[in-house]
Amino acid sequence: MFREKIGTKDFYHMPREYQELLTRVLTIQADCEIGGPHVYGARWLLDAPTADDMHRLSRIIGEEIDHFRKMDRLLKDIHGDGTHLLYKDNSERYLDAFKVTEVPTWAEVAVFCFLVDRVGKYQVMEFVDSTYLPLNEALPGIISEEVGHIGYGHVKMKELCGYGKGRREAQEALNRWYPLALDMFGRSESRRSERYIEWGLKRRTNAEARRAYIEEVNLLIVELGLDVPDEKKGRLYL
Ligand SMILES: [Fe+2]
Ligand SMILES: [Fe+2]
Repeated sequence: MFREKIGTKDFYHMPREYQELLTRVLTIQADCEIGGPHVYGARWLLDAPTADDMHRLSRIIGEEIDHFRKMDRLLKDIHGDGTHLLYKDNSERYLDAFKVTEVPTWAEVAVFCFLVDRVGKYQVMEFVDSTYLPLNEALPGIISEEVGHIGYGHVKMKELCGYGKGRREAQEALNRWYPLALDMFGRSESRRSERYIEWGLKRRTNAEARRAYIEEVNLLIVELGLDVPDEKKGRLYL
């Protein structure tokens, strides 16, 4: 297993597989960062239920755009470029969760932060102490902001669960997003996921990270008094 720490200059001396995997993982991460605002931004930014929510949502969107910028800078350092990811159609996103275009209720935004941003935190936590130092340096700010997004989603979920219509909409949104969130971890049987670990670009297999996520989030769903959706509904989940 490769465990040395390398910088941008060393990148070009690394084997082709390392170069390809790092470029790929940064591209997917950049795509996910900008993918969230494309799902709910246009519909909800100026239609959030209160000025506080509008303000918070605008900050979340600003932070996601900044996470994109950080990933894009890392890509540009290694002669990549994520600019095309800024404007592409949702249908062309890497992960199904970001292909969604209809976000009919405010509860979906709450569930998105509660579930999808939580996966986002898991994704970036995989890079902690990676073999690519410039990536490691970008992580603390991103992680603490993701924790904020998740916390906001959790608070909004608690609010929704306090009254009948809110609870129903939260459950419906949860049923819809839960399998999409689990699929974000990728296939359980993935050779590539083993290669990422081999090169020190991820810490856990897709299945391990997904399992940890399920344990964390299911407890919270039960605490909210909601039903845990069927985890087997995920398309890639095995
Ligand atoms: Fe993010
Ligand atoms: Fe986020």
